Amino acid sequence: MENNKGQWSSNFGFLMAAIGSAVGLGNIWGFPYKMGANGGGAFLLVYVILVVFVGFAVMLGELTIGRKTGKGAVGAYRALNKKLPWVGYMGVGSAFLILGFYSVLGGMVMRYMLGFLVNLFGGAGFAAEGFFGSWIANMPGMVGFYALFMLLNIVIVMGGISGGIEKFSKVAMPALAVMLVTVIVYVACQPGAMEGYKFMFVPDFSVFDSLKSFFDVLKSAAGQMFFSLSLGMGAMITYGSYLSKSEDLNTNTIIIPVADTIVAIMAGMAVMPACSAFGVEYGAGPGLLFASMQTVFSHMGSVGNLIGFLFYLLVLIAALTSSISMLELCTAYAVDKQIEKGLT
Ligand code: PFF
Repeated sequence: MENNKGQWSSNFGFLMAAIGSAVGLGNIWGFPYKMGANGGGAFLLVYVILVVFVGFAVMLGELTIGRKTGKGAVGAYRALNKKLPWVGYMGVGSAFLILGFYSVLGGMVMRYMLGFLVNLFGGAGFAAEGFFGSWIANMPGMVGFYALFMLLNIVIVMGGISGGIEKFSKVAMPALAVMLVTVIVYVACQPGAMEGYKFMFVPDFSVFDSLKSFFDVLKSAAGQMFFSLSLGMGAMITYGSYLSKSEDLNTNTIIIPVADTIVAIMAGMAVMPACSAFGVEYGAGPGLLFASMQTVFSHMGSVGNLIGFLFYLLVLIAALTSSISMLELCTAYAVDKQIEKGLT
């Protein structure tokens, strides 16, 4: 049964894929701006406490359920209890819906990456001013890049577990780490970067002044924690189902959230100081990743095209390794059904 479904070829491959699922737009875009809007270091403190006391436990639970049952989200919950498949259906349904908006963002990231690449070679990739507004109103362009991003997902997932997802993640995740460090170092050398670090790391404990504002921070940190660790939808159940029984779940359970949190903080250290150095608002929301960062790179002069290209390439890799896990979650449901019918 397990062979029909495929398996990770090594624990390292599994880790790259699982960390790849966790590290995504949630880290690079969501984490820094939510942290900025919720007391900086105060948010970080609540976030880390939640990861330690809730994240590890749920991660271990999902991986264990997946490996024990050898099934995707729906099948796994059914195997636990005949009355529970609805929990799995909700997971698959949520992943399907999230994949929709995630792929729109992924397509935009591709467009920005190509824009900087063309600029780098002296072409007119895109104009710096007002591009964001005109691009999101460009229906054929948006749909085209969305489709391209989806196509990449389909090609990788069709490659299977060890041949597609694992192979891609094993190259993509170390490459992401190198590019992230390059951007962080470059940004750290810019005058005015210090303000950005202060914004991130100096706790503003006034957010704990009233019970209401404390619960606001808690709500935001908890939502971010579940999303960022890819928990609650069954992604880790699905990835756990391809894991060999001989691998140590406890160690893996610790490594994935720790790596995810480190990358989230590193992403903040790339984005926030860049904003402060180039006079861009931290809390720009969805536009931060696009309009604001584009402004940052165009202020850097000609090297900005290279740094911009690297930045969007790393965001693209992070987004892809997460979106393929959502697609795999949905695919695993279909594959389990085929196996039940004896078709695979
Ligand atoms: N963890 C991903 C991120 O931080 O962007 C998003 C995600 C992937 C959520 C897979 C849920 C999931 F099943």
